[in-house]
Amino acid sequence: MLRIVVCVSGGGTNLQAVLDAVDAGRITNVEIGAVISNNAGAKALTRAREHGIPGILMSPKEYADREAFNRAFTEEMVRLHPDLVVLAGFLVRIPPQMVEKFSGRIINIHPSLIPSFCGVGYYGIKVHEKVLERGVKVTGATVHFVNEGMDEGPIIAQRAVYVEDDDTPEILQRRVMEQAEWLLLPQAIDDIANGRLEVVDGHVRRREGRA
Ligand code: GAR
Repeated sequence: MLRIVVCVSGGGTNLQAVLDAVDAGRITNVEIGAVISNNAGAKALTRAREHGIPGILMSPKEYADREAFNRAFTEEMVRLHPDLVVLAGFLVRIPPQMVEKFSGRIINIHPSLIPSFCGVGYYGIKVHEKVLERGVKVTGATVHFVNEGMDEGPIIAQRAVYVEDDDTPEILQRRVMEQAEWLLLPQAIDDIANGRLEVVDGHVRRREGRA
């Protein structure tokens, strides 16, 4: 059984997609140990508690400085001892010491086709605003392993989504969630929980013989 901890900042629709997939048996071999949010008002904490999952608030605002937060956050994660940390719309930079301790065991969902529209300043609705500003015709979402870089770890899966002429950032964000994110993240978790993926020379591959 893969024990996961999900980190969320906002609405938590990706968390909901994961919870629904577990309930429906589309994710197997997974136990959700806790949901962590940096935002007391996050609907995600309510979604977690409604599912009987501990919802934990960890906000940088409650610590003297970022170093103190980084230490406390990492200690809390060690206490929760997940096999996999899932960043499902978590807009706080992961402490370097946590990346090191959980190397190869943190995944993130990003609302664009990495390496486009990612890195510093590209998160949440801002990604879709920049996509529309640039006028690209195809966007999408990416699930990847987290390393010490920003949106730079090995890519697990991507899905493309068309941009329409009259899109607003909000309309496009919703389409990317529906057509890409809510499918990709549960699938990636199920693949990891069932041993279907391996990383070879920095690239994620499907293990032979595993459908
Ligand atoms: C999602 O679109 C997710 O991909 C994005 O934040 C949103 C959270 O929505 N994450 C990032 O931008 C990370 N760089 P949700 O709380 O409804 O799942």
